[in-house]
Amino acid sequence: MSRYSRIAGTGSHLPPRRLSNADLAAELAIQGVETSDEWIVERTGIRARHFAAEGVGSSDLAVQAARHALEAASWQAQELDLIIVATSTPDMVFPSTATMVQHKLGIAGCPAFDVQAVCTGFIYALSVADAMIRAGSAKKALVIGAEVFSRILDFKDRTTCVLFGDGAGAVALEASDQPGLLATDIHADGKHRDILCVPGHVSGGSVLGDPVLKMDGQAVFKLAVGVLEETARTSLAKAGLQESAIDWLIPHQANIRIMQSTARKLKVPMEKVVVTVDQHGNTSAASIPLALDLAVRDGRIQRGQTLMLEGVGGGFTWGSVLVKY
Ligand code: ACO
Repeated sequence: MSRYSRIAGTGSHLPPRRLSNADLAAELAIQGVETSDEWIVERTGIRARHFAAEGVGSSDLAVQAARHALEAASWQAQELDLIIVATSTPDMVFPSTATMVQHKLGIAGCPAFDVQAVCTGFIYALSVADAMIRAGSAKKALVIGAEVFSRILDFKDRTTCVLFGDGAGAVALEASDQPGLLATDIHADGKHRDILCVPGHVSGGSVLGDPVLKMDGQAVFKLAVGVLEETARTSLAKAGLQESAIDWLIPHQANIRIMQSTARKLKVPMEKVVVTVDQHGNTSAASIPLALDLAVRDGRIQRGQTLMLEGVGGGFTWGSVLVKY
């Protein structure tokens, strides 16, 4: 009997503090940094983002998203036998954010670990959970993407600080006789590590280097559109499906222009693309599960439909997961 994984429920959480572009521009102006709603919307499609309050970490956002996903799946936390959190902004160097989520859910014993693949983190985490379920080592997994990118932004660098936001999304993934996840495809190429990075680390009790986000936007843009087309085609080929099978394209939400370009190459009309970048900004590993949950809850995504989830991010990393919802 083949064994598959399928999505039993989704959940998400955004911290309540919402900043429109105008709000952010006003805050930045106080520090002498000039930007405008017009520039941000035209180049990125972003209109607003959410920032977590001081003292709120990725695990706090993750646990809220997790509770919503558990509720949607009608599961008790005690039933979980795997927790994976995708994050590049963990609460601490260690232990993992996943162990903190486990404890906050009031459970113990099941494996819990983080996956770090920046904006592709959720795709990586979903692929790992799918492999573990198909291998028979888990039956009910919680896969979460959670980030507080506001903590690693340089608010004096207008080329990056206007792009990102905080949030979390989660999926309850269960073993099933029916697919489920139809195909997964993940990649990395470390030679591009310098075009998107946070070049800092902890040593001897101090933070060394420059622990804020650095990005070569144009290099990222060019790489992103190429690999997003490629990985989507690879997942479709693995599942023996054509582009026309995609009911919903749910790409990583970095920039509307990257999403439009990817959709065009895959011949998916923009009406079939779930877009949240306008309201959330780029929430890195959280962006795909946040978009998925939003479109499930507002009724756009229906059971039986085919979803293409795909991401790209620092490393460089990229990948996709094709889902029969
Ligand atoms: N407000 C006003 N002006 C700005 C801002 C800002 N926030 N940021 C940059 N500018 C100015 C620049 O200083 C420059 O001015 P100049 O011509 O006088 O020198 C001008 O705008 C153009 O700057 P560019 O960097 O050339 O702008 P570009 O059109 O490349 O857009 C952007 C920048 C939006 C970052 C674009 O390169 C991009 O979308 N790249 C993709 C990167 C991305 O989405 N990263 C997300 C993280 S990666 C990921 O998630 C996969």
